[in-house]
Amino acid sequence: MELLPELAGEVTGDPERRGVATLGEFTSGQLQRLCAVAGLGPEDARTYADVLTGELGPEAGRRLDLPPSGRTFLSDDHTPVEYSLAFRPDGPPDLRVLLEPGCGAGTLEENGRAGLAAVHAMSRRWGFGTACLDKLEELLLPPSPQGPLALWCALELRPGGVPRVKVYLNPAARGASRAGATVREALERIGHHWAFEGLPEGDGYPFLALDLGDWELPRVKVYVRHSGLSAAEVGELSRMPDGPPAAELREFAAAAAGTGRADARFSGLPVLSCHSFTDPADDLPSGFTLHVPVRDYVRHDGEALDRAVDLLSRNGMDPDPLLRALPALTGRRPRDGVGMIAYLALAHQRGRPPRITAYLSAEAYAVRPPTG
Ligand code: TRP
Repeated sequence: MELLPELAGEVTGDPERRGVATLGEFTSGQLQRLCAVAGLGPEDARTYADVLTGELGPEAGRRLDLPPSGRTFLSDDHTPVEYSLAFRPDGPPDLRVLLEPGCGAGTLEENGRAGLAAVHAMSRRWGFGTACLDKLEELLLPPSPQGPLALWCALELRPGGVPRVKVYLNPAARGASRAGATVREALERIGHHWAFEGLPEGDGYPFLALDLGDWELPRVKVYVRHSGLSAAEVGELSRMPDGPPAAELREFAAAAAGTGRADARFSGLPVLSCHSFTDPADDLPSGFTLHVPVRDYVRHDGEALDRAVDLLSRNGMDPDPLLRALPALTGRRPRDGVGMIAYLALAHQRGRPPRITAYLSAEAYAVRPPTG
């Protein structure tokens, strides 16, 4: 399924690329520099760069002067890797990396199988269980699956060289028209019997995510797509008890999208809401995240960066790591392209201070030219 327009971008004269021949070299260089930005030491940085290269499998050795081997929708230019920095008021941001382990597979079914094998290998290596994933395998990784993805995983790179792992699955694997029923069934299978009923309306369920491994409170997360909402409507999306006030969500959405008006609509890429469930005894979500695809609401990354810095500062978070992250990823100036900052998200989880996350593209294959 084609979800994003083909990029007409080009990569020219980026100094980060000098002497870098393969996707693995390119992304492991980026990741090591980001580790330094996020306060991880050189040993962790090397370990995690090796982990990333390992998870990409044979794709890591693919030459960068060849086109991407698949058309993953993980990122706009089809790089199967994306980074994120999750900021907090009281310390350095957490660094995460999202990747598609099966990106080199010929079919979506093989892609899912390769992804599953990668997750099982991680579970053996780092000693965590996969019980939830096992319960959902047949439902969400069926034979002859439909797109646009099969399995992605995200690694949260904490100090010590052992990441926390999240898995992203596709509720539309059995067809987009059945995605709602599939989400309901998935939630029931892992014990959240009434969770589905409380979700807000939307026009699709792009992902279902599971925390695996050593999390304090493992979550299952349901993502809902909302096309054409106004900032005022975005304010109403949380279903979390004692969750974020509507005004906070509305202001975040309006500031990220660069519109001062609550009735202005998101006419570009849709916002996503994400509802996380921790306790099966609890039908209501314990967390809520609003994802704003800022890249479709700016002319260039300079603008996206200004908005991100403003939102971080307003919320008592130090923007300095973000300012250092961009040059860790690319030699181009922010205003010379658009899409490096893919999403800005506001995350609330019960009992924790709110966080802001910036999702950062690798741009291994293409840079989208600025629109103004
Ligand atoms: N590229 C996809 C999108 O834009 C998927 C994706 C990548 C995504 N990173 C994300 C979705 C962060 C939400 C948040 O939808």
